[in-house]
Amino acid sequence: MCGIVGYVGKHKAAPLILEGLKRLEYRGYDSAGIAVWQDGKFAVAKKTGRVANLEPEAAKLRLTGTYGMGHTRWATHGGVTDANAHPHVSSDGKIVLIHNGVIENYASMKKFLLGKGYTFKSETDTEVLCNLIAYHLAKEAEDPDESRFVSAVRKTLRHAEGTYGIVVMCSEMPGELVTARKGSPLILGIGDGESLVASDVAAIVSRTQSVVYLKDGEIAHLTPQRFAITTLTSGEVSPVIDKVTWSISDADLNGHAHFMEKEIFEQPAALENAMRGRFSEDGSTANFGGLNITAGEFRGFDRFQFCACGTALHACMVTEHLMERFARVPVECDYASEFRYRNMPLFRNTLFFVMSQSGETIDTLAAMREAKRKGYKVLAINNVVGSTIAREADGGIYQHVGHEVGVASTKAFTSQLLIGAMLSLYVARLRDMSFSEGVEIVQALKGSPELVRTALQQAEHIKGIAKRYAKYRDMLFLGRLSLYPIALEGALKLKEISYIHAEGYPAAEMKHGPIALVSEECPAVFFVSSGEMFNKVVSSMQEIKARKGKIIAVATADCKLPEGLADEVIPIPECHEAVLPIVATIPVQLLSYYVAVELGRDVDKPRNLAKSVTVE
Ligand code: F6R
Repeated sequence: MCGIVGYVGKHKAAPLILEGLKRLEYRGYDSAGIAVWQDGKFAVAKKTGRVANLEPEAAKLRLTGTYGMGHTRWATHGGVTDANAHPHVSSDGKIVLIHNGVIENYASMKKFLLGKGYTFKSETDTEVLCNLIAYHLAKEAEDPDESRFVSAVRKTLRHAEGTYGIVVMCSEMPGELVTARKGSPLILGIGDGESLVASDVAAIVSRTQSVVYLKDGEIAHLTPQRFAITTLTSGEVSPVIDKVTWSISDADLNGHAHFMEKEIFEQPAALENAMRGRFSEDGSTANFGGLNITAGEFRGFDRFQFCACGTALHACMVTEHLMERFARVPVECDYASEFRYRNMPLFRNTLFFVMSQSGETIDTLAAMREAKRKGYKVLAINNVVGSTIAREADGGIYQHVGHEVGVASTKAFTSQLLIGAMLSLYVARLRDMSFSEGVEIVQALKGSPELVRTALQQAEHIKGIAKRYAKYRDMLFLGRLSLYPIALEGALKLKEISYIHAEGYPAAEMKHGPIALVSEECPAVFFVSSGEMFNKVVSSMQEIKARKGKIIAVATADCKLPEGLADEVIPIPECHEAVLPIVATIPVQLLSYYVAVELGRDVDKPRNLAKSVTVE
């Protein structure tokens, strides 16, 4: 979603800001802008479309200043226009602002400001906030304890309802940035004679690995030499400086055409990283360092509740299946966006889990806060170290798969599946699962990187299938049990990057409606394994075939499909049910990717999508 970069230091700000904005492109946006302090005033350029469209506009301004900010906007209030792009400048020219989030009471603020003679050039809530800061600055008296600039921002934010991550510049205090957050992530970068702020570490990691994760309700005041953090309501905060563990090369393509391709092929290594050091010495269970819940306490929970969004929810659904199967404990999964408003009756002995690659998805965060408010413990399965969800959870499990840039989640998803399987094993071994069954599952999980490597060898075969199937406008994805969520995931991957309409269903459910879609024009992707559901899935395939639907079968190598039933077969290695969902995911990731490439889609930046969804 929207991206923020702010810089104050000794180097020219514009190239650093533009580079930072490019590093944030993966998050999804529809316009971009930059403002730099130049010859005693703010020079501003804004443009719809990519950062590449903004660059020539910025070049015309010959920006040499060392104090500035940039933004990529994903439209919420107001259409995608140059005027609505950020930064916004107050009508008196003194305040410049960039903002992620939504100010819900902007209309009443605007009415107030119009009455005071402030004028507006855009339809945005951000410009309203900007003018309100200018209004407070104009009224603010000198105070020996705090800069007028910080006080004006603080006073404004006390009136703001909704969510924000903001960075503000002021013509009366050039060389100072004020930044604050509520609900939208912000990270301060502490450099050598320079200070930075960004909505995502990716934008600043090339300049510094020393960062401070700003918390909700905090305001930071940055100059090149120092930074100070206070809360909205009270005094100074002692900041914790963290070290970012990944480097800028993690955000490069390394010879791949797209980040999605790179990340698909990184999966064997990603799985190794996600399980490293996490099996017990006796090789019969998994261990996690950061749960902050003892084994005894774990045994005391009668139910588990998972909440997540999108792809992460699919990983929760697979975990539900494995946990119920291995540990015989009831598990529920819910869309985080629904859970937060459903006010669902819950059993007291329930342990909560949220799953989120970014750790910033607003609905997942809100579901977690709602569960905590009701007194439940919440553990987070999350990839981004230091994210809001990771910090607010009672404990959790990091995915450790490195920076995922592609908007379509791939390596983060399979690592969530792996962690879900490991967690199921852990819980099962605290209950009834035997030592030998535990050992068998540990061995299977340890073998998953190799199985994924084998599945990836089908890439050229799948590319050929993609060329033949890219012409279709609709596709069904069908599977059963733990492969039903993989059918959902296959459909989601295809539609989000190729814009082909796709639906995932439990294969047997097809007869209750979706079968009406089946014709020569609507192929179906089936997931088939040789297990208990084999004959039933084959029957569903026959029903499609009888209606002239083409079939792509993702089938384990030991499946003996009736001759001629599938038009295309993508073989995957035979494997344990704990790793089957991981292995079955690989072909549909590759199929979606190659179809999207065939159709010339912008794979890493699909239209309308954002990498982390920080608005409701
Ligand atoms: C799809 C995709 C999204 C995310 C969803 C939740 O490929 O990536 O569906 O899974 O937006 O994001 P996180 O996991 O960051 O909470």
